[in-house]
Amino acid sequence: MKKILKMRGICKSFPGVKALDDVQMDVQSGEVHVLLGENGAGKSTLMKILAGVYRADRGTIEIDGRQVQIRNTKEAKQHRVGIIFQEFNLIPHLTVAENIFLGREPRVLRGMVNIKRLIGDAERVLREMNLHHISPRTLVQDLGVAEQQMVEIAKALSTQSRILILDEPTAALTEQEIETLFDKVRDLKAKGVGVIYISHRFEEFPHIADRVTVMRDGCTVSTLNYSETSDEELIRLMVGRNLQNQWRAQGTPSDGKELLRVTNLSTRSRLREVSLHLNSGEILGIAGLMGSGRTELARAIFGADSISGGDIFIRDKKVVIRSPKQAIDHGICYLSEDRKKNGLALNLSVRENITMADMKAISYKSVINRREESAKVQSYIEQLKIKTPSAEQKVKYLSGGNQQKVVIAKWLHSKSQIFIFDEPTRGIDVGAKTEVYELIRQLARRGKAVMVISSEMPELLGLSDRILVMNEGRLTGTLTREQATQEKIMHYATLGI
Ligand SMILES: Nc1ncnc2c1ncn2[C@@H]1O[C@H](COP(=O)(O)OP(=O)(O)OP(=O)(O)O)[C@@H](O)[C@H]1O
Ligand SMILES: [Mg+2]
Repeated sequence: MKKILKMRGICKSFPGVKALDDVQMDVQSGEVHVLLGENGAGKSTLMKILAGVYRADRGTIEIDGRQVQIRNTKEAKQHRVGIIFQEFNLIPHLTVAENIFLGREPRVLRGMVNIKRLIGDAERVLREMNLHHISPRTLVQDLGVAEQQMVEIAKALSTQSRILILDEPTAALTEQEIETLFDKVRDLKAKGVGVIYISHRFEEFPHIADRVTVMRDGCTVSTLNYSETSDEELIRLMVGRNLQNQWRAQGTPSDGKELLRVTNLSTRSRLREVSLHLNSGEILGIAGLMGSGRTELARAIFGADSISGGDIFIRDKKVVIRSPKQAIDHGICYLSEDRKKNGLALNLSVRENITMADMKAISYKSVINRREESAKVQSYIEQLKIKTPSAEQKVKYLSGGNQQKVVIAKWLHSKSQIFIFDEPTRGIDVGAKTEVYELIRQLARRGKAVMVISSEMPELLGLSDRILVMNEGRLTGTLTREQATQEKIMHYATLGI
């Protein structure tokens, strides 16, 4: 196979952080090259250098055997390097079509944009990605997260790149959409494109990976053929130690008092008469396939979607929750799937983001106790292994996974009694997942009631005291910790289909 990309001795520092230190990476034509590493290892930074977003302090890049300078994103495009960024990069107030062809719109005489062709071309691009339901005329801001991600992917795929970088493209996608993406990636491979693929989801690799480069602390550790390695070996290279393969929490006695009960909860969109209860000290897992109504359930309880029927009781008292604000006042917090949008003030520091949910906890007579604040924040940074030069670093300079850890820390710090976590470890590396599980477990031990929605079976089985399974907006099964197995969950999750 032909080598199309050769990066050598790449170094990059930010104030207080050496993000990349003498990094090497090669990509061949027609391969999918996975780039693996813990949160903050330097993956996105390396890719941004290749895409012309950052300039390396040192090092060389060769494309097709010739040394090239990539000083900006335009030069990257000229070398046919395409990228899908980890953080969304679409312009919300433009239409889908305008976003897809931004900067390369079809023009008519005198330079005006040829709207008809623009729409037609966009339609074709969308169709190729099976996105028949998205109109090219829709504003991007009106799309859901998964749809935005698919549009971003469609955009990148339509650029005829020789080297295509996908930085955690599947974090927000459904199984179906991931399938479509993988099909496209295989097509590109067949056409000789070199694909660099970043993901924390090991279960995806067997479907597409040819080679893997592992990074740790800004250095490249090793490049291996995927077929000749194992998950254990990759994890060891990535975190520099052996990890326990299966994490399973100590079960908690479930004699806690009932904190939350919902009866016959329904919404116009999907939820059908869901009833459940949640006790203090308990972790309740919610399983189901994508689209089964898990997130809708959380949103309905949290007041983010209005309900069309049913009741919510907190400590046996019926409550009316019409908005997230009211839910928070009742002690419910919801860590949504879409954390960036709902959870962080990117221009504020790690410290401010963590403590803003509850200043009272660190104040006495409305004076903030700085020493206590800093100790609290420091303990979250350590417990969750948040990689940051200091608590004062602005959150926008943290890596994607570390930003997510900050959102988790923020909610852990809040005074909520009932926690709903929606895909809590998405985007978080294998090493740090265990720490997140430990903290969720701690919440339960401190008497909080916790609901965890997850698509990862080992996560659900490891964490939950009880698992409810959903399908098509209904509850189809309840499993105790002892009864629960992957097979049983799948059985209930597909019941009635
Ligand atoms: N613009 C910036 N300013 C300051 N520090 C930065 C900046 N961009 C990245 N960093 C730091 O560089 C290091 C590498 O970050 P990078 O985003 O490349 O990690 P990553 O491997 O992509 O992690 P993740 O899996 O969490 O996405 C981190 O310590 C991060 O905080
Ligand atoms: Mg990243």
